[in-house]
Formats: sequence, C-alpha cells, structure tokens
Amino acid sequence: MYNERVMKEFAEPKNVGFIENADGVGKVGNASCGDIMEISLKIDNDIITDAKFRTFGCAAAIASSSVATQMVIGKTLDEALEIKNKDVVETLQGLPPQKIHCSVLAEEAIKKAVEDYRDKKNN
Ligand code: FES
Repeated sequence: MYNERVMKEFAEPKNVGFIENADGVGKVGNASCGDIMEISLKIDNDIITDAKFRTFGCAAAIASSSVATQMVIGKTLDEALEIKNKDVVETLQGLPPQKIHCSVLAEEAIKKAVEDYRDKKNN
C-alpha cells in the first residue's frame, strides 16, 4: 500500500518526542479514524529552531509527522504556515487516496502549534 519513501520515514522517523518547555504545541485528531498527532515547536525570533512529534496513528500519519517536523525546522512562522498537506504528500512521493487525510493532520498540527505560540505571546 505504501511506497518505499513512506515506509522508510515510518520505520525511521525523525524528531520523535516532545520538546519540554515548548514555545508552541499543536494537537489535532481525526474523528473518523481516531488518530491523534501532536507537534511541539521551539521558536527563536520567529524562526522554528526545533520540532518534535508524538503521533498515535497509522503509518502514513507517522511518516507525515516526521516529514512535517523536518520541513518546518529553520523556517519562519509565516513560511511554516505556508506548508500544505500536498507538500507533505509530495515529499513522501505520494500517499494512497484513503490516506491523504493523514497528511492533513500534519498541516493542521503545524498551524495549531504556531497559533498556540502566537496566542501565548500576545497574552
Ligand atoms: Fe487516520 Fe492515518 S488513518 S491519520
């Protein structure tokens, strides 16, 4: 069902875990499959300096989280918000149609983590 790129990212995911004292945390879930993804970010001067994930979900969700965390490190917050699920799918060289929603979780988790940071900063 999955291509080699996805299987590699699933078998050897990068950035697994949770950043203690994270500057922004985004936790999202998909009601139909029940999978949950959480991305924590370290942010310095509007640049994402570290990102980690904890995902309770399928192989595509784990591969998507791994890719998404690698994509955001080094980006500004605005650049990170530009990342769409199709960018995650492209990096993974494709996902089966029924697994596209797994990549949407990654896009949503990044957005939520950035929002969380901005909310905290403005309060
Ligand atoms: Fe729902 Fe993958 S099956 S996140």
